[in-house]
Amino acid sequence: MFTEGQLYSPVTTQEDGTVRVHLADTHPGKDDPEYLDRRGTIAAAALAWDRAGGAPVPTIEYTESEHEVWRRVSAELRLLHEQHAHSEYVAGKERLGLPSDHVPQLHEVSERLVPLTGWTYVAAPGLVPLRDFYADLAARTFNSTQYLRHAAEPLYTPEPDIIHEVIGHANQLAVPRFAAIVEAAGQASLRCRTEEAMQFVADVFWFSIEFGVMYEGGDLRAYGAGILSSYGEMQEYGHMEIRDLDLADMGTLNYDITQYQPVLFAARSIDHLEDVVGDFFATVDDDVVARLRREATGRGLVAS
Ligand SMILES: [Fe+2]
Repeated sequence: MFTEGQLYSPVTTQEDGTVRVHLADTHPGKDDPEYLDRRGTIAAAALAWDRAGGAPVPTIEYTESEHEVWRRVSAELRLLHEQHAHSEYVAGKERLGLPSDHVPQLHEVSERLVPLTGWTYVAAPGLVPLRDFYADLAARTFNSTQYLRHAAEPLYTPEPDIIHEVIGHANQLAVPRFAAIVEAAGQASLRCRTEEAMQFVADVFWFSIEFGVMYEGGDLRAYGAGILSSYGEMQEYGHMEIRDLDLADMGTLNYDITQYQPVLFAARSIDHLEDVVGDFFATVDDDVVARLRREATGRGLVAS
């Protein structure tokens, strides 16, 4: 129920150097001064990080309350993954072996991912500009927030927190075939010059890497990080309208990031996902997007 680049809470630095995170009015932590301070401290660490200078990714001293949120959510998601996650994601999760009893540091995530698929995690204070986010994907680098959701509502978050970034994405990136598709999406961004084409790539990414589902043994399973990191999405996705993979539709369908996704696109297999989405990311450029948009218009998917 959120997206990179659109629903991260804004982060600002005051004149006195204090970093503030501006939560939406509906955020469970909006009126909790301790949580707001904590969010500011964690965002400040990422802002102060000298990435270009080769400094190590910031380490966060997580509190017992934050570890408890991680423990609680990890346990709940594990039960749901048994029922709903695609077997490749489950296998990747087992290989990666993230802790379920404490919040891992991003460098620990990288240390586990690098031998599997070569991916590295780096710290982001919140919003990363779309093109920067994707350019890093092209280099097998994943920008991750480090904060946790508010402890009052551990099974809900309006923003992508470290539970989404790590339990959702890192387990997925531990699977070589999924990791290759995500890298190809990053490479695609370097080929797309127009903002229209860049957004089309991001929308196909949304309906695959974030909210993708796939048939497996006759069941519909999830492989998308946005579903697999969300207690609510995993309860809901089986009731949604399921369409076949369709690039013109995926790249032009309007969606509301604040609601459960009412339309999902299902791959018949990983081969099918690679043939359609992987091949799209590997070959897309401005002309391909222009053609797909014309196709979408011709089919009445978007207004002409
Ligand atoms: Fe995500």
